[in-house]
Amino acid sequence: MEELKEIARGPIDVLIVGSGSREHALLWKFAQSEMVGEIHMAPGNGGTIGHNVGIQADDIRGLSEFARDTGCITVVGPDRPLELGIVDYFMERGLPIFGPTRNQAMIEWSKIHSKETMRELGIPTAQWTWFTDKDPRRAMQHASLRGGNVVVKADGLADGKGVYVCSSVEESNAAINAVLVEKKFGRAGERMLIEEKLVGRELSVFALCNGIDAVYLGSAVDYKRLLDGDRGPNTGGMGSYSPVGWAGDELISWIMQRMVIPTVRHTRFSGFLYLGLMITENGPMLIEYNARFGDPEAQAIMPRLNIDLLAEVDAIARGEIRAFHRYGNIFNNLGSCCVVLTSEGYARELGGAQRRIHGIEEAQGDALIFHAGTTRSDGELFAEPGKRVMSIVGVGSDASDARARAYAAAEKISFEGMHYRKEIGVQRTRVKA
Ligand code: AMP
Ligand code: GLY
Repeated sequence: MEELKEIARGPIDVLIVGSGSREHALLWKFAQSEMVGEIHMAPGNGGTIGHNVGIQADDIRGLSEFARDTGCITVVGPDRPLELGIVDYFMERGLPIFGPTRNQAMIEWSKIHSKETMRELGIPTAQWTWFTDKDPRRAMQHASLRGGNVVVKADGLADGKGVYVCSSVEESNAAINAVLVEKKFGRAGERMLIEEKLVGRELSVFALCNGIDAVYLGSAVDYKRLLDGDRGPNTGGMGSYSPVGWAGDELISWIMQRMVIPTVRHTRFSGFLYLGLMITENGPMLIEYNARFGDPEAQAIMPRLNIDLLAEVDAIARGEIRAFHRYGNIFNNLGSCCVVLTSEGYARELGGAQRRIHGIEEAQGDALIFHAGTTRSDGELFAEPGKRVMSIVGVGSDASDARARAYAAAEKISFEGMHYRKEIGVQRTRVKA
């Protein structure tokens, strides 16, 4: 299969859609490809200046015109453009794009659809029932029969905020009220799930999929809560590490054979498939599918990949089916640890102002720095308020080396209101009963 590389076309120009650290990490990885040409970011951030093209991630028409005019392939980072059907739109116009169609991505943007898919494929998951905004009282009754020990979820995309892990009837009533009555998530909350609360260790597993087959692209632990000790509000992710020592080959192979491959065959999924799992006493249970790479998992996994990811993504975007197995080692032997720095107000809906960032040059010697909520003005770098500002990724010979590097770098960076968790990679996240 190696010859395929030889006959592949010349430099690959690529447009990465998105503006977070995940997209910056993809840029960093693609830039190492032997085949890379120009890399463009839409809209990008303060760390990707020189690549940014000033088109928003949900401006599908604008993105398609740019891709058509430059002849680049397009890779989609975030969930929203996938739900809007960016891949369908490009495909109808003969533009090469890497990612799932709107239908394939439905396993992420409708939680009820994802549960139905799991049921059809016999994939273990938490027990569930769904309700509509017509019957909040029946939903409350259902939750109270379980002592309020349930998880309440808006059906649609809610920027990672539509999930309530409850421990009392008071909490479950409040959650159901927020979703079905107050309509806090708009149309995403017209339907709602109530799930059994699972106990175990959370794990994120990734695969590269071409519509018929999939290859394992690594796993990571994501720290979702804002504060150390898994306290405080849920966030988009405060840090991650990879590889995950306790997730051995046997477990991963089971997840690939019993969950990932059947899902890819059933949905003809193309793109990055991300499984959010709870590893329980009764084995792995699938919490959710995502139809994209994770953030902050991408930042920890990209530095571990041995493969030419851009060449793979290009082939899939062009509809070529290449055998994945020609790679001996998908991963190098390194460990990585990603620490996310946030600005004032993040996850707390408070105000704040732009703050000047200091110490980036000094920190770069120790770790990789992938930007998110940053802007550059008059040559100075600023943190935007209420954002994940950047990901600091230590890469080392093992987990503790990686962690030491990440924190050495994080300590050199400062801006007013900066916050980060101090125990990424130390204390794993475990959901308590
Ligand atoms: P999601 O937005 O679906 O990723 O859910 C956010 C977080 O809620 C997950 O990462 C878990 O920590 C938690 N969660 C979701 N579903 C369950 C469940 N059935 N049991 C326990 N925790 C859950
Ligand atoms: N790591 C959480 C997410 O990407 O949704």
